[in-house]
Amino acid sequence: MKISKVNQSRINEVDFSNLPFGKVFTDHMLICTYENGQWGEPEIRPYGPIPMSPATHALHYGQAVFEGMKAYRKDNGVVSIFRPEANFQRLNRSAERMTIPPVPRELFMDGLIQLIQLDYDWVPAGEDISLYIRPFLYASSEFIAARPSESYVFCILLSPSGPYYSGAVKVKIEEKFVRSADGGVGFAKAAGNYGAAFYPTRLAQEAGFTQIIWTDHKNHQLIEESGTMNVAMVIDGVFRTPALSDRILAGITRDSILTMLRDQGYPVQEGPVTVDELLTAAREGRLNEMFGMGTAAVISPISHIGYRGQIVEVPTPTDGLSVSIKKALSDIRLGRTADKYGWMHDVFR
Ligand code: COI
Repeated sequence: MKISKVNQSRINEVDFSNLPFGKVFTDHMLICTYENGQWGEPEIRPYGPIPMSPATHALHYGQAVFEGMKAYRKDNGVVSIFRPEANFQRLNRSAERMTIPPVPRELFMDGLIQLIQLDYDWVPAGEDISLYIRPFLYASSEFIAARPSESYVFCILLSPSGPYYSGAVKVKIEEKFVRSADGGVGFAKAAGNYGAAFYPTRLAQEAGFTQIIWTDHKNHQLIEESGTMNVAMVIDGVFRTPALSDRILAGITRDSILTMLRDQGYPVQEGPVTVDELLTAAREGRLNEMFGMGTAAVISPISHIGYRGQIVEVPTPTDGLSVSIKKALSDIRLGRTADKYGWMHDVFR
């Protein structure tokens, strides 16, 4: 590992009491290039621009994938990464689908740990703030033939961040546009999945919503996921979430919540939830609550559902499941309760 440190940290310029999501970056980043069939020596260097050719492959064909993960500062001051192995595995599943060579575990884990060790002071302490970690991989060859790149760049950025959504989320059930289809790349964290969602999301936002709820590409009858998160609802006291498929991102927050709920004996059903069922439950007062689950979004309550010009209100109980499960997850992350699932990966300076 080559390490070149900044001469002067920028940390004193940052207002940690008012952190936006994903706009502030720490002093350093990790970068490693893949050329001639192998990964080179990783480098930690000051955060800054990556000079690139206008013919850089990823700019033309979107051969790029990313991850979103978080590190927390526990109450005892130790910094701890939440489920890094799960993100590592998912990065390489996404990479495989996008014909990008896998990142070796040692590069990902050791690189991440050394980077966090260097920027340790940047990890904020608190309930709703953390160090958002953005590993990404992109095609870097300088050619514009439409075939896989020959060289790639792996990079990790660290961004101390506040909450992604500032309050409860209003969602619109989407019936025209689709996020993913059978056999597509919906399960992967492919950069283009997000870029392609911006236009329908902007239309929904212009109509007063925060996000879209995607429905299946065939009939728009099955609830799939939301723009930046998986979705769950509690209907008649049962936690329901759509089952994973190649159209749905395998959320690590989603998986963590399912694990905790099953462990607590809470009734859980992973399977189809139709738009009709959801709206009928909401109208009949059987929809107890609904929320999004994601690394950036954490657990975000959904307060309104828009469908065909109608708005249905959703309860957001302060003593509901989303509040209690968020607290239980936060207690593990901040070291307030035993890490019984072995999810936290402590990093010592
Ligand atoms: C995450 O939750 O980490 C995501 O990747 C969502 C992101 C697009 C903000």
